[in-house]
This record gives sequence, structure tokens and C-alpha cells, in this order.
Amino acid sequence: MKFFVDTAETKDIHELAATGLLDGVTTNPTLIAKSGRKILDVIAEICAIVPGPVSAEVAATDYENILREAKVLRRIATNVTIKVPLTPDGLRACKYLSSDGAMVNVTLCFSAAQALLAAKAGATFISPFVGRLDDVGQDGMELISDIVTIYRNYEALHTQVLVASVRSPMHVIHAAKIGAHVATLPPAVLRSLYAHPLTEKGLTTFLADWQKTGQTIA
Ligand code: G3P
Repeated sequence: MKFFVDTAETKDIHELAATGLLDGVTTNPTLIAKSGRKILDVIAEICAIVPGPVSAEVAATDYENILREAKVLRRIATNVTIKVPLTPDGLRACKYLSSDGAMVNVTLCFSAAQALLAAKAGATFISPFVGRLDDVGQDGMELISDIVTIYRNYEALHTQVLVASVRSPMHVIHAAKIGAHVATLPPAVLRSLYAHPLTEKGLTTFLADWQKTGQTIA
């Protein structure tokens, strides 16, 4: 399973990329706004840190302007992935961009029917928002399970399921059990995957016992 980080904070991205476990980055207009930086600058900086796919979202909603913005974003780096909304114009742009060789991430997916359309439009990634579905009393992970099942039924569909709006390590574990290809995680969730109280406790004991031996490994 690939791990992407869902942030536009380059300090976090630098730190997480150094682990060697980061496969890509996703951003959205809210995250860019939070960074307080210009989208072209921040995406260029992220692309220089992470060689994997870096999602940059268009702000336009009509076909022509989505393509115009996509052209600008694609010029930044070859690993830019164009993020388009799951709308008729967004999917039309997805079809055009993917046949033109661009990676496309279709965002704001809340149903299996939408995911099927995105795959038919040639999306590289489909982003179902699990946390936001949970927030309104629907089961986000059930949607992931449905999409993975549907995609597996058709060999011709190559779209990767990118689990988005992840709120906890349990979302990540469920997504992995289902076989989702990617999860994009807020930095705090990605860091929390390392943690277990028994790991910390065990390490403390090992270090204390080691010190008693007076040895060094050299
Ligand atoms: O980038 C899309 C998605 O991950 C947003 O998550 O937490 O704003 O629902 P959230």
C-alpha cells in the first residue's frame, strides 16, 4: 500500500520524506490556503522534495478553464498530478488529460457510481473521502470496499483507489485490509502509525538492561 501525505506544509513533507516511506503528496485548495503560500511555488517545492505523484487541484469548474489551469500546473514538474472535481466537466477534463499523458486524481468522490465514472474517464487515482462520509453517518470504509470490488471486476480499469479524508490509523488499517492502493494521510495520522505503548515500554527496558552490561557495539 502506498502512503501519501495530505498537506501543503513543506516542513512536514521534508521530515516525512526522510523516512523513505512516503510515496506521494496530495494538496487541495483548503490546504494551500492554510499554507499561506502561492500554489505554483508550493507545488514546485513539494515536487522537488518528493519524486512520486504530487496532486495539485484546479480551481476552475468548467472544462476549458480546467484544461487551462492544468496546463499551467503540468509545467511545474513531471510528477504533478492534476486533481479535478468529480463533475461532468471535471471528468471530461480527466478523459482529455489522461489521454494526453497526465496523471489525474479525481477528487470529492462519495459514491461507487462516481468512482466507476472516474475510472472510465481514465483517472489515475480516485479519491473517496471516508472521513467526511463518516461525519454524515455513512460508512466511508464500505465505499472503499465497494469501489475496490468493482474495479477488480474489470481488468481494463487501472484507476488506483486513493483513500482520502483519513482521520485515524483505523481508517488506514481497514483500507489496507480491503486492498486499497493508496491512503493519503494528514501528517499527524502518518506519524501516529509508528506509535504503540508496548514498543516504547519495551525499548526503555532494553536500553536500561543494555546499559547494565557496560558494552558498546563497535
Ligand atoms: O485532500 C482531500 C481530503 O483528504 C480532505 O480531507 O480531512 O478535509 O476531509 P478532510
